Amino acid sequence: MYLIETEDNIGFLTASYIKNRIKSFVSTKDNPYFVLALPTGGTAINLYGHLVKFYKEGLSFDKVVTFNLDEYVGLSENHPQSYHSFMFKNLFNHIKISKEQINILNGNAANLEQECTNYEEKMKKYGGIDLFIGGIGRNGHIAFNEPGSAFNSKTRVVDLTPNTISANARFFNDDISQVPTRALTMGLGTIMSAKEVIIMATGAKKSQALYHAFEDKQSTSWPVTVLQKHPRTFIIADKAAAAEISKTTKRDCGLCSFIN
Ligand code: F6R
Repeated sequence: MYLIETEDNIGFLTASYIKNRIKSFVSTKDNPYFVLALPTGGTAINLYGHLVKFYKEGLSFDKVVTFNLDEYVGLSENHPQSYHSFMFKNLFNHIKISKEQINILNGNAANLEQECTNYEEKMKKYGGIDLFIGGIGRNGHIAFNEPGSAFNSKTRVVDLTPNTISANARFFNDDISQVPTRALTMGLGTIMSAKEVIIMATGAKKSQALYHAFEDKQSTSWPVTVLQKHPRTFIIADKAAAAEISKTTKRDCGLCSFIN
């Protein structure tokens, strides 16, 4: 797991990395699509702005399939705060990509467990996730894998913690009672099977989670620590988010060589 501490625009750096990965992907009959896992959330908005800009400059998504990390249970797809709405508003409405290339969990499926199993199978059918992009919760969650999530967990139904519900209330007029209490999410095991992982972290509210990610031993109390054993994870953080990581922790610029 590598720390990339930067004052540069994290959304731009991450979008540049995605762009270069898509451009260098060789589509074959057996492996036609680059599989990109995508987050929602405040940190991702800037990233999508840059991806849209790259699209306008000529980046093609024709050989890309996307899988979103998670979705609320019980919120209609058209609700402004559903992750479906978020993705179309911030990315999919602005690039050329077909419905068949977009995968988002259906939080209103009649059989939620089956929906999760199908999602895992579909990812496998495409050869697994090539590049996983995520944010991080204040409590160290990745996707909606809250503290206590098993390290080998797969896509499943989860209960959100009070911590996450209150953090997300800002998107629901600060009204906690409107925030869904359950979600569907890729599991930590799903994420661990991705070939590459990038986690974006900005602001002081994420500093405790990053401290545990880099300075603490692996523990399900801090889900992000699962990534300590992932062979190719970059946590890209601004100074405020990286503030509690000791100066002796290895900083690496592995990401830099891949971007313009
Ligand atoms: C969203 C997701 C979450 C967020 C995390 C950070 O799809 O999976 O794990 O990435 O809660 O959210 P922000 O960026 O709003 O701080």
